[in-house]
Amino acid sequence: MKYFGLFLLSVIVMVECNHLFFGTNVNRPMVYHKNAEYSSKVFRKRVENVYVSVPSLYNGTPRPIQGVMAYDLTHSGASANVTQGGLGYNYINIRMKSDRGEKLNYDIYIYA
Ligand SMILES: *[C@@H]1O[C@H](CO)[C@@H](O)[C@H](O)[C@H]1NC(C)=O
Repeated sequence: MKYFGLFLLSVIVMVECNHLFFGTNVNRPMVYHKNAEYSSKVFRKRVENVYVSVPSLYNGTPRPIQGVMAYDLTHSGASANVTQGGLGYNYINIRMKSDRGEKLNYDIYIYA
């Protein structure tokens, strides 16, 4: 029963939100955090890009991006994709698209 509740919860989360997860954040320091929030456009979808470039050295050693987490805080039909760079690179471009007439609100975390 305990596991069933857990399963149900994960299904609901998967259906209602479009989070973006790439790579891992285990034992990786967070190098960037941004709450990307944009107001809604009446009857239209809003498209925004967030470009992040992280230092190529972290504590003197090369550290490419190893994890990306973007949480959809609107719980609407918004989506987010990586369009440039990402895992293994020192930069990333995340393209976000809101639901029609909804605002955009992504909590973005980058680990390297
Ligand atoms: C992300 O990719 C999916 C699948 O290709 C697409 O349906 C969606 O519109 C894309 N979202 C953005 C913000 O580009």
